[in-house]
Amino acid sequence: MKKYNQIFDFDIHDKNIEILKTLEEDAKEVFSNHINSRKDWYPHEMIPWNRYSNIEKYGFEYNKEKISENISSAIYLLLMTEDNLPWYARTITGFIGPENRYTIWNDWLQQWTAEEDRHSFVIRNYVTLNGLMDPFYLEDARMHQVSSGLVPEGDLVTQWLTYTVLQELAGRISYRKVALALGDDTEGYHIMSKVASDENRHFIFYRDICKKGFEKHPSEFLIGLAMEGIDFQLPGNHSGQGMIDFDIHSRNMANGGFYNLDLYINEILKPSVDFWKIDQLKDLTPEAEKAREDIFSYIDKTNKFIEKIKDRALRSNSRSDSSELNKITHLPSLFEDK
Ligand SMILES: [Fe+2]
Ligand SMILES: [Fe+2]
Repeated sequence: MKKYNQIFDFDIHDKNIEILKTLEEDAKEVFSNHINSRKDWYPHEMIPWNRYSNIEKYGFEYNKEKISENISSAIYLLLMTEDNLPWYARTITGFIGPENRYTIWNDWLQQWTAEEDRHSFVIRNYVTLNGLMDPFYLEDARMHQVSSGLVPEGDLVTQWLTYTVLQELAGRISYRKVALALGDDTEGYHIMSKVASDENRHFIFYRDICKKGFEKHPSEFLIGLAMEGIDFQLPGNHSGQGMIDFDIHSRNMANGGFYNLDLYINEILKPSVDFWKIDQLKDLTPEAEKAREDIFSYIDKTNKFIEKIKDRALRSNSRSDSSELNKITHLPSLFEDK
């Protein structure tokens, strides 16, 4: 992760609280848009309970090639991410601080947690009833993940806010792609689409808060974005050891096109940078100017590399070359290898 030393010149906790205070009225407005646009849904109405009769008859059967390894890995990573909800809530509570215990920020955290809590419930029941994955493996992985309590951390409140924009959008895109891949399985399609639409609404909340944040605290938000957006890591890999078999599953997920570097740069980071108009921000500190340069140069450099891989694949018409891009999930290893 990039470091910008100037941010350590002030008391980070006080600065975080000050930033949240100045965005409180904006948060009220964005939160009320979120609440007014919500449509309640009930996981028990979506889970295919009728498939329980198979379990009753044959016991727990799984991995019977109902879905490809790539889809299975994507669902695994998404489910594990959902399972770790308690520790995301803990980290966010830290950013919000006791000072905001009775403010809109805490209201949002509670609402967000309640909405997220549905996701693991509905997905795990769907996966188990359909015998899509080994339930013992899933439970062991959940125990490992949740008892480790490892989640993305940071010092600046702007790291939390900008990281979550990117992560919620990545979730929305991946769930949507999984839904389409499950197309024939109507229940699976509806479940994944419903979760995707929740992630989309979370993304919009954070994106709109950040929009106001970039207007009021451009330097702090730019530094937060550079720290999280350059070499962005999915939650399972943030600590390097949070999720069992993360490398295998993330490679499969990328191979299936559910998430990869091209998608991250051109469907997640770049549109967010454009939406916030970061090229037009003024009155930046020298560190924030550097952060902005770093973000743009990261996007350019990565896109050039992606083009190079795509050209090579086209020229050689080689399957291994064309799949190379999909294997790439992290830029540093990509540049180091080349
Ligand atoms: Fe979720
Ligand atoms: Fe979400």
